[in-house]
Amino acid sequence: MTTWNKSSWKNKTALQQPDWPEEELKQATEDLSQLPPLVAAGEIRDLRAMLAKAAKGEAFLLQGGDCSEEFARCTAPNIKSTLKVLLQMAAILTYAGGKPVIKVGRMAGQYAKPRSSPTERVNGVELFSYRGDMCNSVEATPEARQADPQRLLKGYYLSASTLNLLRAFAQGGFSSLHNVHKWNQEFVKNSPVGGDYEQSIARQIDSTLKFMENIGIHTDMPQIKEVDIFTSHEALFLDYEEALARVDSEDEVPNRWYDCSGHMLWIGDRTRQLDGAHIEFLRGVRNPLGMKVGPKHEPNEIMQVIQRLNPDNKEGRITLIARFGAGKVEQFLPPLIRAVQAAGLNVLWCCDPMHGNIRKSLSGCKTRSFEDILAELQQFFAICRAEGAVPGGVHFELTGKDEKTGEVTECTGGASGLSDEHLGRNYCTACDPRLNAEQSLEMAFRIAEMIKEG
Ligand code: PEP
Ligand code: CO
Repeated sequence: MTTWNKSSWKNKTALQQPDWPEEELKQATEDLSQLPPLVAAGEIRDLRAMLAKAAKGEAFLLQGGDCSEEFARCTAPNIKSTLKVLLQMAAILTYAGGKPVIKVGRMAGQYAKPRSSPTERVNGVELFSYRGDMCNSVEATPEARQADPQRLLKGYYLSASTLNLLRAFAQGGFSSLHNVHKWNQEFVKNSPVGGDYEQSIARQIDSTLKFMENIGIHTDMPQIKEVDIFTSHEALFLDYEEALARVDSEDEVPNRWYDCSGHMLWIGDRTRQLDGAHIEFLRGVRNPLGMKVGPKHEPNEIMQVIQRLNPDNKEGRITLIARFGAGKVEQFLPPLIRAVQAAGLNVLWCCDPMHGNIRKSLSGCKTRSFEDILAELQQFFAICRAEGAVPGGVHFELTGKDEKTGEVTECTGGASGLSDEHLGRNYCTACDPRLNAEQSLEMAFRIAEMIKEG
């Protein structure tokens, strides 16, 4: 194989890239490559070590956030409310599931989207498809849909702002277990499924905190007051990722590269070709990598891709994110697990129950049902266990309450009984439908039951 460098992906076919104007792209990526990294290599190494534990069943990965972040929604209330849901879910999974939970946001950089077609027809006009705010604008005019490299810079700065607030909230007391517990108690009061929480977890957390205080352990210590929150996004626009690739001068081994645009990166279901540019770029950076696997995969190719990305077969490097759909997971997951095990490859098994369960609602918008999502998760856990693999993580598209409009209505089902007719109330995603805060917390209780059964 040819040697890797941060531009070697340019000798391969890169799918799903915008039609960037060349000169402007060159300027924007030169600017980006001079700017500070968004995350530190040491944090990337820490996350890898934690994911290695999840692969062995000693921790659990919770990854979630918007399908597609939007520049206009990069506000304090929105960032805070998504973080809040993730922390609440993590508390439920930690206390009911009995394992440390690794919290990874689809946040601070999830601005690039793969599309099924490069163009679309809107009111009789052929337009470039919207590829996420880091490329163009969702507005349906030819000008708005032009790829604009200045958006890469704007995406970088907004990722930095988001990350700055996440770090402040993670360390500054906002995320303390006392707070998260209080929010969960509010949820319990208002939700029909709240009783579960009251019985299974609230008392446990209460009595643990009281016990600690009684024996003189201060519950304002960092383990209670602070959390680790990591960022992730689909590594799609390779010019951007290359510009954020850096060598860590403090690394114990010299000259190792890290993609400092986020802690964890994933490879989409449409861009994981063995000889494609995405695999070429990512094989050379040391971040933990997720890889989405949908029904159209070729198991043999998946094995080869894993070996190329992780030739030393290290735990924590690869997370396989299965996204088959409730009706298909039983057909596709068992052979994939068997192939991975027969080849002796170390991976963390994670379930994305969102992307295989998209359907059209009665009024024609994209939706997903709580029941399909839950069904795929249940099958994922059962299949992993039957095959002797560890079900080690979950991956969601979710959101907290919207700043202006409140609880979103993009997915149907769950305790509040949203159905197709209700979706128009507050459907705001620019891309795929997300679970709202209430649906997410209810889902967390159900997953906690699944973790506990293992
Ligand atoms: C996504 O995670 O938003 C996505 C596009 O997923 P996939 O590559 O699995 O279709
Ligand atoms: Co999506």
